[in-house]
Amino acid sequence: MSQLSHVLPPGQNYESASGDQEASYGRIKQDGLDTTHGAILYLEDITVSFDGFKAINQLNLDISVGELRCIIGPNGAGKTTMMDVITGKTRPTSGTAFFGQTMDLTKMNEVEIAHAGIGRKFQRPTVFEQHTVFDNLELAMKMDKRVKTTLFARLSSEQRDKIAAILELIRLNGQEQRLAGLLSHGQKQWLEIGMLLIQEPQLILLDEPVAGMSDAETARTAELLNELRGKHSIMVVEHDMGFVAEIAQQGKVTVLHEGSVLAQGTMQQVQADDRVIEVYLGR
Ligand SMILES: Nc1ncnc2c1ncn2[C@@H]1O[C@H](COP(=O)(O)OP(=O)(O)O)[C@@H](O)[C@H]1O
Ligand SMILES: [Mg+2]
Repeated sequence: MSQLSHVLPPGQNYESASGDQEASYGRIKQDGLDTTHGAILYLEDITVSFDGFKAINQLNLDISVGELRCIIGPNGAGKTTMMDVITGKTRPTSGTAFFGQTMDLTKMNEVEIAHAGIGRKFQRPTVFEQHTVFDNLELAMKMDKRVKTTLFARLSSEQRDKIAAILELIRLNGQEQRLAGLLSHGQKQWLEIGMLLIQEPQLILLDEPVAGMSDAETARTAELLNELRGKHSIMVVEHDMGFVAEIAQQGKVTVLHEGSVLAQGTMQQVQADDRVIEVYLGR
């Protein structure tokens, strides 16, 4: 049973609470986004050159709706640059990037891409430290352009329920009145994931979410991501192989190397791949 079912009455979920028809609290489908061919993201032949150096080199990669995709690869492989392309921070030198069938990400700016439903968590947490956990989530909710509310409007009961469900999911229930600045590094990372989730992005990009976390925090983050499985489409870049094994399960793992896909398959397949062992995992 998911954590969320303790908070919301049976049959009810975020989407129905906000008048939408989706059958889960996630946003694996959304108004305006055409995912009829099953993929939410298509990167085709993407190259990013920095003064002639190809940080991304003819990269091809698709993410399916509801998939949790792990991306691994050595430092400098182009993982963060790929996220920069998807979120509009960096323009590819060539190639195409589509969100669903119709949204050409290479023609949208960062704000438009965020509003279209791609949420990103950077490596370092960027919570509002002088505000409480609850206020951080409330602020994130009110920054969501799809929500018709003002900063000073009182929260509706649906909005309170939604924050309560997210607090439980990110393991911060009971801590909602603490200042975010007093949380542990791992808790700040969870809070930031909560701030992303509250805006219901359809595609979530997480860049090294467990870097710097304790072993216990890393294990809880794996549980958290496993709870999100199937409810959101998620791309996770991580170096911690134990963590990747926990969340990849039987799903696809992509190995990037020198800006291209070196290998792709289940965790077992990529771990047994000689080229992957050579450039990344070591013998
Ligand atoms: N703005 C930039 N200008 C020049 N080189 C860059 C820039 N951003 C990244 N790079 C280079 O591109 C390569 C890929 O970097 P990055 O995407 O950060 O790799 P990863 O996240 O896989 O470690 C690295 O060699 C890095 O130095
Ligand atoms: Mg990186």
